[in-house]
Amino acid sequence: MTKLAIDGGEKIFSTPAHVPAWPPVYPETAEKLKEIYLSRAWSFYGPQEVLFNKKFAEYTGAGFCAMMANGTVTLELALKAFGIGPGDEVIVPAETWLATGEAVVYRGATPVIVDIEPDTYCMDPDKFEEAITPRTKAVIPVHLFGSMANMDRIMEIARKHNIKVVEDCAHAHGSEWRGKHAGTIGDVGSFSFQQSKTMASGEGGACLTNDPELAEVLGRLSHIGYQYAAKQGQKGTPPPMGLICHNYRVTDFQAAILLGQLEHLKEDTILREKNAEYLRKRIDALPGFKVQARGKEATLQGFYTFAFHMIPDQFKEGIDRVKVVDAITAEGFGCYAAWGGQPMYRQNLWSVPENQYRIASNAVAEDLCTNRLIMASNPWLMLDEKELAMVGDIFEKVMTAYGK
Ligand SMILES: Cc1ncc(COP(=O)(O)O)c(C=O)c1O
Repeated sequence: MTKLAIDGGEKIFSTPAHVPAWPPVYPETAEKLKEIYLSRAWSFYGPQEVLFNKKFAEYTGAGFCAMMANGTVTLELALKAFGIGPGDEVIVPAETWLATGEAVVYRGATPVIVDIEPDTYCMDPDKFEEAITPRTKAVIPVHLFGSMANMDRIMEIARKHNIKVVEDCAHAHGSEWRGKHAGTIGDVGSFSFQQSKTMASGEGGACLTNDPELAEVLGRLSHIGYQYAAKQGQKGTPPPMGLICHNYRVTDFQAAILLGQLEHLKEDTILREKNAEYLRKRIDALPGFKVQARGKEATLQGFYTFAFHMIPDQFKEGIDRVKVVDAITAEGFGCYAAWGGQPMYRQNLWSVPENQYRIASNAVAEDLCTNRLIMASNPWLMLDEKELAMVGDIFEKVMTAYGK
């Protein structure tokens, strides 16, 4: 048997793989950034922000796009636009970045945590339905890592119970469900453009909606009350009395960076999806691993990360996630346990007192997140064919050494 690199054997990647640096940089964008700098039009519905709102709405097929400071305030403002506050409950999945739950806490409402599906790792629609109470006002399905939540079922249940749907699309740029872009199926689609995302401008976010009145409210809420798309000093009609607004604006620099990336989104999404599907074939053929399932009706899948889980009883005694991650990484493929290997409500930075959230169901998430879930960042899905095959070889090598 070939000796693992972690035990002193030869690494599969004897020289580092050609993982592209992330985020990508384009010379045309660098020129544009210089132009914006010299123009002094840096923010406040500047030309690039207006253009990005238009182009991202066109790309996704949404009626409206409202850029904001990040993908946490997009969630918070979507909930605020629906009037959600103290006494209300918002249903969120047990596995996600803590922003999904904390956005609810910022509103003074209660996040109600429900379990995920064991294959897609996204919200389990049955658990969502079970957790509904008369106080439930909204649900935030998260299209997690590289999959999509079951939007057919979630929309059906939400409509039946008159519950608003905010899709958390922080991981789903480019994803489509039955040909409809992620973020255009629910009432609001929330995107993050933070540094690690597949569209990244350092920081940034956007809300999509098809509802003109909602777009107007979201625009005002994030632009300190100014009417959607109004210039500084031209406030248009004032906000309705009592609509307390924030400043969650972005700058034109961020919008210009994203406009450059939007040009490449389709081709990059198709490449990542193709490569992920190749790895799925290689890895799912092994008894000890299973790659995160695609969204059941996902017609195009934007992979934020490449996620998979271990099937523990296929490994030798004493071989756990830490050992597997270390062995795979030692061969030259960088992977890790998501968010410190914990479900959302136990992540390091989640410091919400237990009496301020409610766990309705969590058995799958507990087991998966705590013991079995592993992932690699999206640039690994942009390797060439030869290096991608070497990643497949790594999984086979580790399985041979550690499998029963
Ligand atoms: C699932 C999910 N939702 C929301 C966010 C929040 O986005 P941001 O970091 O832009 O505030 C993130 C961010 O990383 C995320 O992973």
